[in-house]
Amino acid sequence: MGLVVLAALAAMVLCSCSTVKQWTGSGPAEGPMDIDVTVFGTMPDGQDVRNYHLRNATGMTADIITYGAIVVALEAPDRDGTMTDIVLGYDNLADYLKETPYFGAIVGRYGNRIGKGKFTLDGVTYTLATNNDENHLHGGLKGFDKVVWDDEPVWRPDGVGVKLTYLSKDGEEGYPGNLQATVIYVLTNKNELRVEYEATTDKATPVNLTHHGYFNLTGGKRDILGHELMLNADKFTPVDAGLIPSGHRVDVTDTPMDFRKATAIGARIDDDYEQLKFGGGYDHNWVLNKNGKIMTPAAKVYEPTTGRVMEVRTTEPGIQFYAGNFLDGTLTGKGGIVYQHRYGFCLETQHFPDSPNKPGFPSTILRPGSKYQTTTVYRFSAK
Ligand code: BGC
Repeated sequence: MGLVVLAALAAMVLCSCSTVKQWTGSGPAEGPMDIDVTVFGTMPDGQDVRNYHLRNATGMTADIITYGAIVVALEAPDRDGTMTDIVLGYDNLADYLKETPYFGAIVGRYGNRIGKGKFTLDGVTYTLATNNDENHLHGGLKGFDKVVWDDEPVWRPDGVGVKLTYLSKDGEEGYPGNLQATVIYVLTNKNELRVEYEATTDKATPVNLTHHGYFNLTGGKRDILGHELMLNADKFTPVDAGLIPSGHRVDVTDTPMDFRKATAIGARIDDDYEQLKFGGGYDHNWVLNKNGKIMTPAAKVYEPTTGRVMEVRTTEPGIQFYAGNFLDGTLTGKGGIVYQHRYGFCLETQHFPDSPNKPGFPSTILRPGSKYQTTTVYRFSAK
């Protein structure tokens, strides 16, 4: 609570405005880095949800709210320098509270699926909330995307950001241990959105935090099938019809899962390939080629009509590429844009799905005394 008051005081000192930001879609001119804190909305219990409007020295902006640690807007330049909002989401809190397929949120305590919502750790079987048929998805019924995080501004020599913290209590959604989670978003002067994750616990627990941004580098003008994607992965983890991995890692060669050379997302998405039938297109985890390095290139996306490029680097071993197959035109987002089928794509850097039940996958278990620490960077440019 003290942190919140401090943050609010800092916000009052730092910013001159106190109104709810209306997103217009046009970016500010070049100028100094800035953080503008406003009230985005109010929770049903009366708690304010703040919006951090971050502006870097090149004029790129990000808007991040304390509910769900959601990136509600991100403006990046095209090849002519025109700034456009390139993430899906809503312009008011009520819409986020009503229905969202995790637009722009941080998902946890375990991002992605845990089969049948069960796992055994140190001889004890834990039962988690199930919210995706018989499986547990993105932390359960009330995951980290549906809570209000504590916040404070972050000033760094090379960027501005927000530090968000959340204490997930022992037993929440069925998980063991009090987990203290921290996510720091920094918008750097190299046009990067840098996401730093940290967590500690007082009992052994699985942890797998990721950012669930839906990107559309056209700014929502059309679907994402023309975007050209490169994934730095020789293998992926095949799944069953419920999108739970078998535990194998399969070579992508000669399959529509091979994105080692940049390929349009739409080129093979409807191919007659069994894995693509599960999930209605791409909705899989790729095994990143780490080559012994900690921070590695994971993905690169190029949008030919605007020239926008997004590069993803991460310390994580995997990336879930989800092509927005479950978007179906029933949700209307910012600026009245109807989110049709495959209108946004997600690149969720993470450990592999269902790792707590797959001894052959890298471990996701955090123990007391250890620190969970991962970093992912999304860099934006144009050509
Ligand atoms: C999952 C999809 C799921 C979506 C929810 C993605 O991370 O892989 O299967 O439908 O999140 O919006």
